[in-house]
Amino acid sequence: MTEEVGLEKKKYECLEDLPGIGPAISQKLRELGFHTVESLATATAKELEPAGIGEKKALEVIRKARSSMAISFIRADELLKMRQTVLRLTTGSKMLDELLGGGLETQTITEFYGEYGSGKSQMCHQLCVNVQLPPERGGLGGAALYIDTENTFRTERIVQMARHLGLDPEEVAKNIIFAEAYTSDHQMFLVDNADKVVKENGVRLIIVDSLTSHFRSEYLGREMLAERQQKLNKHMHKLIRLARAFNAVAVVTNQVMSKPDVFFGNAVHPVGGHIVAHTSHTRIFLRKSARGPVRIARLVSSPYLPEGERIFNITENGIEGVTEEDNPRRR
Ligand code: GTP
Ligand code: MG
Repeated sequence: MTEEVGLEKKKYECLEDLPGIGPAISQKLRELGFHTVESLATATAKELEPAGIGEKKALEVIRKARSSMAISFIRADELLKMRQTVLRLTTGSKMLDELLGGGLETQTITEFYGEYGSGKSQMCHQLCVNVQLPPERGGLGGAALYIDTENTFRTERIVQMARHLGLDPEEVAKNIIFAEAYTSDHQMFLVDNADKVVKENGVRLIIVDSLTSHFRSEYLGREMLAERQQKLNKHMHKLIRLARAFNAVAVVTNQVMSKPDVFFGNAVHPVGGHIVAHTSHTRIFLRKSARGPVRIARLVSSPYLPEGERIFNITENGIEGVTEEDNPRRR
C-alpha cells in the first residue's frame, strides 16, 4: 500500500475501537449514519458535532480513522500508486470498455444519462451481474447495492443475464441488495446509511437509478432550484465517499429533458445541471439508434479520457458487444 508521511499505522475495526469513543457517542454516531471507521475517515468535524463531539476531538477521531484506512497525507509520487488501486468493471461490451479506458472505475461516480428506453436501467442491471464475475472476466468479485427510485428493478432480468454468463442465478440474485427509495429524502437517507451494508456484504457496486427523478418531481420551480442543487450536491458527495472508502464503483442514472430552444449540438440536457456535471467524474450519454437493439454511448466528460462514441447491443442476454469478438466476458 501507500507509504504515509508522519502518521502512525493502527487498524481500527469498529467505532468503539477509536480512542475516546464510548458507547454513548458511538450510538449517536450511528444515528447520524456513521456506522464504520471508513465513513468517519471521510467525515468533516462539523458533521460529527451533533454526536456531542467538540471540534478538537472530532478532528482527532477523523485523523485516527484515516490513519487506520491509509487515507492520509501522501507524497505525489505515492498518489500515482493510489491511482493504481483503482479497479475496473466491464460493461459487457469490449468496445465500450475501451472507450472508458478499460471499464467503469472504482472510487468515482459514473453517470449514464439519456432519454427513456435508452438503456440506463438495463446497464445498471447488467453491472449488478458483472460485478460478481471474477477479475479475470472483468468483474470485481463483489456484491451490488441497487437503490431504485422508479420501481424498475426486475429480478427476472437479472436471472436471464446471470444464466447467459453461466452463473448461478440464485447466487447472483442473493448478492444484489435492493432498496426502493420513496422520496428524495429517503433516497439520501439510504445512501447516508449505506456504509454498514456495503462493508458487511462486500459491496463493490453502488447504483442509484434514477438519481434525479424524485428531486425533479419534488423541487418544482425556480425558487426551489438552489435547495435542490444543494441537496443533490450533498448526496453525490456521500456517494463518492462510499466509492472511495470501499474501492467501489458508483453509478447513477439521469433522464434527459429536451430543450426545444437549442438548435445546434445536443438538444438534450441532463437534469441536475452543473452540480451533477461537476461531481460526477465520468458522464456517458446513451441514445437509441435506428437499429432496434443497438445503442450509442458517448463519453461526454472524463477527468482524463478523450470524448468518443461506441455502439453496443441490448439483447435477451443483456448488454453485449455488437460482434462476437466484442464480448469480453466470454472465456
Ligand atoms: P427510463 O428509465 O424510462 O428513463 O429508461 P432507461 O434508459 O432506464 O431504459 P431501460 O434501460 O429500461 O431500457 C429499456 C429498453 O431495453 C427496452 O425498450 C428494450 O429495448 C430493452 N430491453 C429491456 N429488457 C429487454 C429484454 O429482456 N430483451 C431485450 N431484447 N431487450 C430488452
Ligand atoms: Mg430506467
